[in-house]
Amino acid sequence: MKIITIVGARPQFIKAAALSREIATNKDIEEIIVHTGQHFDDNMSEVFFREMDIPLPKYNLAINSLNHGSMTGRMLEGIEKILIDEKPDLVLVYGDTNSTIAGALAAKKLHIKVAHVEAGLRSFNIEMPEEINRILTDRISDFLFCPTQTAVDNLKKEGYENIDCKIIRCGDVMQDAANYYSEKNSNNDFVRNNIGYSNFILCTLHRAENTDSPEKLSTIINTLNEIHEITPVVLPLHPRTKKKIADLHLELKVKIIEPVGYLNMIELLKKCSLVVTDSGGLQKEAFFFQKNCVTLRDQTEWVELIENNVNILSKINRNDIIDAINKMLTKTSDFTIDLYGNGMACKNILKELLKIKTEK
Ligand code: UD1
Ligand code: UDP
Repeated sequence: MKIITIVGARPQFIKAAALSREIATNKDIEEIIVHTGQHFDDNMSEVFFREMDIPLPKYNLAINSLNHGSMTGRMLEGIEKILIDEKPDLVLVYGDTNSTIAGALAAKKLHIKVAHVEAGLRSFNIEMPEEINRILTDRISDFLFCPTQTAVDNLKKEGYENIDCKIIRCGDVMQDAANYYSEKNSNNDFVRNNIGYSNFILCTLHRAENTDSPEKLSTIINTLNEIHEITPVVLPLHPRTKKKIADLHLELKVKIIEPVGYLNMIELLKKCSLVVTDSGGLQKEAFFFQKNCVTLRDQTEWVELIENNVNILSKINRNDIIDAINKMLTKTSDFTIDLYGNGMACKNILKELLKIKTEK
C-alpha cells in the first residue's frame, strides 16, 4: 500500500513523527511525505525533521505566507499534480491547517481515500480558520481517527453515522510523541543553559483570534509583562506573533526566545510551573507533563482538560488572565487519569491502515 502524508505546519511534523515511525515498522506500506511549505523557517520546520527522525519529504511545494484562499488554492493544485503522478492508495492528513484541507480535498476529488488524524474536534467557533478546515476535512474523509470520545460524539451528533466513513477512536498521537521523545530527551540541559529561571511560566501565542486583534494582542502582552515582574514568563515567539508585535510597536518585558525544537520544548514543559497558551497542542502537552494550563481563548476543542480541572479558559482581559494564572499556579491537580490513549494511538491507527489494505 502506498500512503501519501501531507504536512506543512509545525504541529503536523510532531504528529507525523510519531505515526511515521510506526508506519515504518511495516514493510508492506510505502509512505511518501509531502511538505506544503506552509511553515518554512528552520526552527519551524527542518529542526523537527532533524531531531525527530521524520522521513524527509519527497516533495516540498514551498507555498507559504499567503492569504487563506491563495495558500489553500495553490496547495490544492500542487498536491493534485503529485497525487496524479504517485497514485497512492490513501492520503493521510493531520489536524486543521490549510495544508490539511488542501490535502484532503485534492485526494477526494481524485477518488483517493482520505484518512484524517485528529478528526471530530470542534470549538464551535466557525470564525476560526481551523474550525472551517476541520469540519470540511472530516466531511470528506473516509477514515476519521478521533483522539477522544468527545471527538467521536461530535461526529455522531453531526450525523456521521449516516455517512459512508469509518470512525475510529484511537487516542492522541501527540501523547505517543510526548512519551517517545521525552524518554529520548533525558540529558537535555536547555533550560539550565538558556533560561536562567527555576520557576517560570511557559507561554505560547499564535492563534489568529488573538494576534490579529490589536486590542487583544496588546492586552495579552501588557498582562504578561506585568506577570513577569512576579513570576518570569518564557515565550518562544511564533513568527506570526513576532510580526504583529513589531507592527504594533508593543514593548516586551518577558523572556523572549526563538521558537525551539520539540526536544527543547519538552524540557521547557518539564521544568515550567505553568503553561499559558492559545495553542491546541500545548494544552495537551501541559497535561502530559503534569502542568496546569491557562488557555487564552473563549473555547477549546480539548474539553476533557477543562472537565478535569487541569486547564481553565481565560477571556482576554487583564483581570481574568491574572486571576486564572494565580489560581492555576497554586493549584494541585490530579494528572493520573488517562485522557488521550496511553500512547497507543499510532499502533491503533496502523492496525486500521492494515485493514484497508486487506479490504482492497
Ligand atoms: C498555522 C495554522 C494554525 C496552526 C499553526 C501552528 C492555518 C490556517 N493555521 O497558523 O492552525 O495552529 O499554523 O503553528 O493553517 N511564518 C514565518 N515562518 C514560518 C512560518 C510562518 O515567518 O516558518 C509567518 C508567515 O509568513 C505568516 C505567518 O507566520 O506571515 C502565519 O503563518 P501561517 O502558516 O499562515 O499561519 P500560522 O499562524 O502559523
Ligand atoms: N512547539 C515547539 N516549539 C515551540 C513551540 C511549540 O516544538 O517553540 C510544539 C509544541 O510542543 C507542540 C506543537 O509545537 O507539540 C504545537 O504547535 P502550535 O502551537 O504551533 O500549533 P497548534 O497545536 O496550536 O495547532
